[in-house]
Amino acid sequence: MAKVTFVTTDGTEVSISDANGSLMEIATANGVDEIEGACGGVCACCTCHVKIRPEWLGKVGKAEEAEQDMLDEEDGTDERSRLGCQVELTDDLDGLVVDVVPL
Ligand code: FES
Repeated sequence: MAKVTFVTTDGTEVSISDANGSLMEIATANGVDEIEGACGGVCACCTCHVKIRPEWLGKVGKAEEAEQDMLDEEDGTDERSRLGCQVELTDDLDGLVVDVVPL
């Protein structure tokens, strides 16, 4: 269980404590409306796109090839981009902060 904060596009911080699962699952279960998760978490839509805060990039790690292929097709991605469904919130990531990207 860990805490994660989603910063929405209007700057609102939504913090969820004692969370587990993927960032997409946590966001959709807790009213972060800008994360949709349209494909159900199978790395096929980009509606769970988030940007990891720079200080967390090393701990979160890089996208696998299939995820990176999806991100490469999306506008507005950069080196901080991850698909939320592919990032599991582990205890190591307690306190993680991510920026939500507009749909
Ligand atoms: S929910 Fe579709 S790629 Fe993450």
